[in-house]
Amino acid sequence: MRDILVAGNWKMNGDTARNSELLAGILAGAPTSDRVKLLVCPPFPYLADVARQIAGSPLQLGAQTVSEHPAGAFTGEVSVAMLRDIGCSHVLVGHSERRSLYGESSSDVAAKFAAAIDGGLRPVLCVGETLAERNAGQTEQVVDQQLNAVLERVGIAAFARAIVAYEPVWAIGTGLTATPQQAQDVHRHIRSVLAAHDADIAEAILILYGGSVKGDNAAGLFSMPDIDGGLIGGASLKAGDFLAIADAAASL
Ligand code: 13P
Repeated sequence: MRDILVAGNWKMNGDTARNSELLAGILAGAPTSDRVKLLVCPPFPYLADVARQIAGSPLQLGAQTVSEHPAGAFTGEVSVAMLRDIGCSHVLVGHSERRSLYGESSSDVAAKFAAAIDGGLRPVLCVGETLAERNAGQTEQVVDQQLNAVLERVGIAAFARAIVAYEPVWAIGTGLTATPQQAQDVHRHIRSVLAAHDADIAEAILILYGGSVKGDNAAGLFSMPDIDGGLIGGASLKAGDFLAIADAAASL
């Protein structure tokens, strides 16, 4: 049976005091379950501080993006090695906000994914369609294109050290959640695309759902056969909200 991963993407939120309070709340209330794993992805300036606060705890640390380059004259960028150096194990790549607001193409995302794998960080590859694309019946086509750009660059073997997050853009921060069945259909599709390359890797990989996950809809989503947890935005910013999702996962 696969683990359930509950991952908080804090996006551009928080400050030193609020982060400490949030982490203290999460650490105090985290469910003890062998199957449920927790990950937080704070903004860059707080990563090292958060790493110190969660040292020795089961909480894992990820960044929200990373440079595809190893080092050098790339002003404002942060490398895989730097993230590893300060204690990150994971990194989000290709979040829809990076794609839509910062112009990251699927080939940029593939390069970041490759850099993460090469440098020993576990990438969380985010994919998902817009509302217009869903309404046009293009969901699978969009997800295929986003996945294939990475598969073509790194090959299936790299997915043994990766996570996929399906985040329909229309469900992010809108309060509109995909129904468990809508999400399951896309998750199953993603797993089948990977299975066409390697059945064992497809069976083992965690595929998270993201988009308005809350305490009251998490269990329904996570109980679907191909949904292995959530990538949580808004509800990851309050310990009680995040723990309600973690508890829902631990109850399954
Ligand atoms: P919300 O949970 O706020 O919808 O955000 C989802 C998301 O984008 C996580 O990466």
